[in-house]
Amino acid sequence: MQAPSAFLQKYNRPVPRYTSYPTVPFWQDHLDIPRWKQLFRDRFAESNNADGISLYIHLPFCESLCIYCGCNKKISTNHKVEEEYLQAVLKEWDTYVQLMERPPVIREIHLGGGTPTFFSPDNLRRLVSRLLERSVVHTDHSLSIEGHPNNTTREHLDTLFSLGFRRISYGVQDLNREVQEAIHRIQPFEYLRRATADARAAGFTSVNFDLIYGLPLQTLPRLRHTIASSLTLQPDRLAFYSYAHTPWLNCSQRLIDEKDLPSPSEKAALYGAGKSWLIEGGYTNIGMDHFALENEELCVAWKDNRLHRNFMGYTTQASGILLGLGVSAISDLGSAFAQNDKTLGGYYRSIGEGKLAVKKGYFLSEEDKEFRRHILDIACKGSTVLDPAWTPVLEEWTLPQLRELAADGLVIIDEASVAVTKAGRPFLRHICKAFDLHLLR
Ligand SMILES: C[S@@+](CC[C@H](N)C(=O)[O-])C[C@H]1O[C@@H](n2cnc3c(N)ncnc32)[C@H](O)[C@@H]1O
Ligand code: SF4
Repeated sequence: MQAPSAFLQKYNRPVPRYTSYPTVPFWQDHLDIPRWKQLFRDRFAESNNADGISLYIHLPFCESLCIYCGCNKKISTNHKVEEEYLQAVLKEWDTYVQLMERPPVIREIHLGGGTPTFFSPDNLRRLVSRLLERSVVHTDHSLSIEGHPNNTTREHLDTLFSLGFRRISYGVQDLNREVQEAIHRIQPFEYLRRATADARAAGFTSVNFDLIYGLPLQTLPRLRHTIASSLTLQPDRLAFYSYAHTPWLNCSQRLIDEKDLPSPSEKAALYGAGKSWLIEGGYTNIGMDHFALENEELCVAWKDNRLHRNFMGYTTQASGILLGLGVSAISDLGSAFAQNDKTLGGYYRSIGEGKLAVKKGYFLSEEDKEFRRHILDIACKGSTVLDPAWTPVLEEWTLPQLRELAADGLVIIDEASVAVTKAGRPFLRHICKAFDLHLLR
């Protein structure tokens, strides 16, 4: 074991969240679209209605810019943009429906962003009604949305509830005025309280809050205030994300004064303290970054080893086909990924020409599938079984990494398996990285 500061330096490196393997930087830039369409057609034909499909719809608009944000978003105060976008997404959906030999059974819909609640309740109704028009809704379905507490109205919530939505996730990040000013996101607690009460009154059964640690000007007392205030509202789930500071990718982050960012050891202390306050508050730590109340579905699935992971994060639904619609949206067919154009102009152009807007993507090899299985098992179950057929590759790339993680007390390795230790739980991403052959090579 090494000194705590050396240990923190070693593990305070940006590591992928592994919502896909291989991760997006290793995908091909110009995916073979005819091959993708054929694969989609085949995968849909061989899939069964019991599994159904998942839909992710990316709704990119936000009314103002939070400068820490790493999401694909477009800032606009002009709500006329809603109509053009809605038409494009529905046209994209129609193109995919033509590839389906029977009406799809919808298991999951997730409206993500950007800020889906930027759209008017009426437009959200039009969008979802059209998606469901030629589909069957799975008996065990889950419809969810990301909302901004500042603009989610009771009318939004009632409309979404009537369409079958029962889950909402609110961006909270931090509840201190000093931090909110530093990240350009002024969001009074009262707005969050009202948005949460409205969701419950409308009938939503699951409310999630996103919190971030490592933001500028965050301190332990301020984080304590954020967590204590959040817990008074008893969210069913909480995400506790590490602030990803990548100013070379997100230029608005250059507006953050790096002197205001917590040091690696301060950031580790924020994580450690935050995690124990959440656990003391009655939440169970699930996989990477997530916490849920004891009887919450995600928590039950985690304990029963039934958790899955895809681009939307952790889920209890395993549908096999995840179709992403909208700018930058990602689809996952199990054996291939595709990502739509990340620019709104490019997305509109392709859809306008009657084409798919797919840009990047990846067709998985057998080796990719095997190593993805390990990454998913580590992320969802905290252990994985090593197949002797892959020993040469494991010996060359993965085992040296795992031995180092074992020396740091983060995993236990035996001949046939790897298990994450309690000390290793905060480092799941680093452990997954030991199976990331693309990154290691
Ligand atoms: C699409 S936003 C949530 C909905 C809505 N736009 C809002 O901000 O309330 C998704 C979440 O990603 C997280 N996020 C965004 N940028 C991040 C960053 N640089 N590091 C860590 N988490 C980030 C935030 O917690 C945010 O709530
Ligand atoms: S955090 Fe949410 S509201 Fe803020 S810019 Fe990002 S997507 Fe938009």
